[in-house]
Amino acid sequence: MKFRAVRPADLSRADVTIVPLFDDKQVPKALARGTRAIVERLAGERGASSLYNVFTHVGGDKDGRVVVVGAGKRAEYDAERARNIASAGIKSLWKTDAKTAAIYVDATRIGEQRAAQAAVEGARFAMWRPEAHRSKPEERRLPPLTTVTIAVDGNVRDALRRGDAVGLAVNTARRMANEPANKMTPTIIAEEARALAKEAGLEIEVLDRKKCESLGMWSYLSVAQGSHQPPQFIVLRYRGRGGAGYDLGMVGKGITFDSGGISIKPAEGMHHMKADMTGAASVIAAMTAIGTLKPKVNVIAVAPCTENLPGGGATKPGDVFTSMSGKTVEVINTDAEGRLVLVDGISYAQREGAIRVVDVATLTGAIAIALGNHFSGLFGKPESFVEEVRRVGAEAGDRLWPMPLTDEYRDEIKSDIADITNSAGREGGAIKAAAFLDSAVEAGTEWAHLDIAGTFWSDRDRSHAPKGPQGPSVRTLVALAERYARS
Ligand code: BES
Ligand code: MN
Ligand code: ZN
Repeated sequence: MKFRAVRPADLSRADVTIVPLFDDKQVPKALARGTRAIVERLAGERGASSLYNVFTHVGGDKDGRVVVVGAGKRAEYDAERARNIASAGIKSLWKTDAKTAAIYVDATRIGEQRAAQAAVEGARFAMWRPEAHRSKPEERRLPPLTTVTIAVDGNVRDALRRGDAVGLAVNTARRMANEPANKMTPTIIAEEARALAKEAGLEIEVLDRKKCESLGMWSYLSVAQGSHQPPQFIVLRYRGRGGAGYDLGMVGKGITFDSGGISIKPAEGMHHMKADMTGAASVIAAMTAIGTLKPKVNVIAVAPCTENLPGGGATKPGDVFTSMSGKTVEVINTDAEGRLVLVDGISYAQREGAIRVVDVATLTGAIAIALGNHFSGLFGKPESFVEEVRRVGAEAGDRLWPMPLTDEYRDEIKSDIADITNSAGREGGAIKAAAFLDSAVEAGTEWAHLDIAGTFWSDRDRSHAPKGPQGPSVRTLVALAERYARS
């Protein structure tokens, strides 16, 4: 599938034309006369402008199909809307044989570049579906689209390139998170990462158990010891500016299945824990986009991968380990395993020279209690950096909400017999988890933590997004890498 842009006035016929309709029901002026009449008629239907509602006119061969997508209130229009409108339009074609599509993009308020990039991301997003293991091909089919034309003024070549790379990366993260745990073990993630690194021109190194032992990653390894699957600590490097050090380090939680370990989870909903490696998938996928886009920046991605199972060798509640940072950890609850693998990932990224670290993790059920399913929790220090991540993330189309992290919370994770404990009560659970990660952040490092446990998955099918993995935070990571590039 290719993307191109043309001025609305120069648009030629496509199998499908996708048109946004705001609640003022004003039909875009640049539409061809025939299409315009169809849109005006569809605009008369009830609910035609309700957000992401899709109304279709199945045309003859001459006019092609016209898809009107509700764009909601004009005053609320932003890049996220542009992305979801394109996505809803393309998603409505899943059962069709459309080969070409044209998407009208409204650039007022957000500008041509952002509007075009968002539309391409949305179109890519709609060209993935979760039914990967259905045996009947028609139950996982996608339309045979070869060309998607973005109807917008201005030179948007770079925007199309960016939207395409980011959209593909989001889908890569979703594909990996969607796989069942028996088909996405730590070893398989490492293989996937090797293949993606080769394609995107990234350096890759996978540390095995012995290497991790020699680095003192006993916190990470404590999670792996209850499983028969060997741990795989994945490291990807991209050096776009040359020179030493990394302008950005990304660390992703890679628990390929979280049973809870000896502190075992209840059966209900446990299957969702196949996607507890969404953070790892996100940083690996973001690196593929960075490798494709080639900004002048150095980035290192770290994905500590393992299963969390209650085998005979598993960690017992109360066990104590020394993390790579030298701090000792009392494991009160083996289900609080994400923070155990992340601290060693954060230590490693800093040891390799990362001056900023952003970690991404399906870390706590508590963040979903606090924020529900629409915003990821954002933590970190210093505040100026957290605010920068929030702004860059929001602009890139991720929804992040800042959470507090002060010394009171750091005090609450002190252990009676070791330095810190991995579980200190339910109240403020997401913040205490962040305080635990903070213990590995060295003086001078800028650090942000994205808790995506409420946003990584949707149980609901929506017109602009199928149920299943949603790929949060990938766009933020790519945008941050571009932010720190030397121009
Ligand atoms: N992977 C879970 C968090 C999670 C829950 C992610 C629901 C996605 C959906 C994490 O490892 C976990 O089990 N956290 C515990 C921490 C507790 C034991 C301190 C939790 O949130 O209950
Ligand atoms: Mn857990
Ligand atoms: Zn977990």
